[in-house]
Amino acid sequence: MKKVKKIAVMTSGGDSPGMNAAIRSVVRACAYYRTECVGIYRGYQGLIEGDLVPMTARSVNNIVHKGGTILKSARSKDFRTKEGRKKAYENLLEHKVDALVVIGGDGSFTGGVVFNKEYNFPIIGIPGTIDNDIFGTSHTLGYDTALNTAVEAIDKIRDTASSHNRLFFVEVMGRDAGFIALNAGVGAGAEEILIPEEDLGLERMLESLKKSRRTGKSSSIVVVAEGDKSGRNVYQLAEYVEENMPEYEVRVSVLGHMQRGGSPSCFDRVLASRLGVKAVELLIDGKTNLMVGLKDNKVTTTELEKAIKGGHTIDMDLLRVSDIMTT
Ligand code: F6P
Repeated sequence: MKKVKKIAVMTSGGDSPGMNAAIRSVVRACAYYRTECVGIYRGYQGLIEGDLVPMTARSVNNIVHKGGTILKSARSKDFRTKEGRKKAYENLLEHKVDALVVIGGDGSFTGGVVFNKEYNFPIIGIPGTIDNDIFGTSHTLGYDTALNTAVEAIDKIRDTASSHNRLFFVEVMGRDAGFIALNAGVGAGAEEILIPEEDLGLERMLESLKKSRRTGKSSSIVVVAEGDKSGRNVYQLAEYVEENMPEYEVRVSVLGHMQRGGSPSCFDRVLASRLGVKAVELLIDGKTNLMVGLKDNKVTTTELEKAIKGGHTIDMDLLRVSDIMTT
């Protein structure tokens, strides 16, 4: 087994708060273990283009609290081609890199698995996405921060909703997963929460909103996950309710990319620090094709392929709790 003397780190796919803290952790752990470190700009695309820079412990000063990623991020089409991956491999050899840490989501891990199969190149993944849709970890980097951002935004919407007796549909991110919607919905006291994992039907939503109205609520918030499977987008949902409940003035707010920005929460910073250290230690120990994650507040590992294919499980009991809360 070849000794790992130089580790490269990249951020890939959609950025998420805590990625900088994870870069910092990888770089500092490398310095601690006297292993050289390089940063790759713009994920796999930067690797293909040879955009690599040496990093020392001092390269990552004052970034633990910053949103975004100092290494930039990208979704690379070229890395999906054999030629692109060949160029990436050549650049790693040219820079004498022995192993790679990929901070990203399932798309980034899929690229890593394919690359490892072709070139047998050691890779460890750190789950970084606000969607929390990765198997093998209770939390992905950035999810906690995004959740708090969404709750804060919905709290503000509630102020104006209640001043005007309005019903608001608030769309949150999460791709095909309802983690942000469900948890932000419960946290912000939404009357209804629509998630992709359970389609309760439009009739049920209407009934529930009518009941809220009957029992004295003058304003309401419905949180809709962007991947919701009701068959209507958030604007169509709003129209549907306006048609069936003319007594309500309805508005729509799509929170969008604000959920991806901002200073990471303390939870995300601590998680990033723990996962970065573990990733470096695993590579130095000759391990590969693993994702580091959190289970029962312990740092654990999951096979990278399983992390992608394992699917996500959402706590459906929270929907029940939400129902009880809106009594
Ligand atoms: O995966 C993170 C995420 O923010 C999803 O929640 C969302 O569906 C998607 O990325 C948006 O992608 P883009 O930034 O390319 O519009």
